[in-house]
Amino acid sequence: MAFKLNVNGKVMEADVDPDTPLLWTLRDALGVTGPKYGCGVAQCGACTVHLDGKPVRSCQVPVSAVGAAKVSTIEGMAADPVGKKVQAAWMELDVAQCGYCQPGQIMSATALLTKTPKPTDADIDAAMSGNICRCATYTRIRAAIHKAAGQKTEA
Ligand code: FES
Ligand code: FES
Repeated sequence: MAFKLNVNGKVMEADVDPDTPLLWTLRDALGVTGPKYGCGVAQCGACTVHLDGKPVRSCQVPVSAVGAAKVSTIEGMAADPVGKKVQAAWMELDVAQCGYCQPGQIMSATALLTKTPKPTDADIDAAMSGNICRCATYTRIRAAIHKAAGQKTEA
C-alpha cells in the first residue's frame, strides 16, 4: 500500500504494509538511515524521530498511524534552528563515542530544548531517560544540552 509521508520537509512515497514500523519504512523503503535500530521494543531510543516535533520511538509507530504528521529525523536537524545548536554543542564537546545511539540522543535533546529552552538537570534526566548509551556518554550529553541552551555546564 502506498503511503505519502512528509519527511524533513519533503513528500516521500513508500509502498509498504500498513503495519510496517515507521523505522523500517524510513530506513528500507525511503533510504533515510539516520534513525537506528537498537531494540525494536521502545526501550533504547536509538530509533527516535519527531512527529510534529514530538519525540517518538519509530520502531513502535506503524506507518499507517503517521498520516499527515511531519516526520523529522537526524538528517533534518541541520535545518532546524534548535537542532543545529544541539549538533554544534555535540561536536564541540565531542559527545559521541561509537555514535550508534547519538541520532536518537540528539532528537530527544532537540525536542527537549524546543519545549524547555533552559532545562535543569532534572528536566534533562526526565527527557533523556529513554535514550540508552552503551558507551555511557551521559555526562557529555548532559553538558552538551546545557551548552546548546547557552547555560554553564554543570557536568
Ligand atoms: S529501536 Fe526503537 S526504542 Fe530501541
Ligand atoms: S555512543 Fe556508543 S552507544 Fe552511545
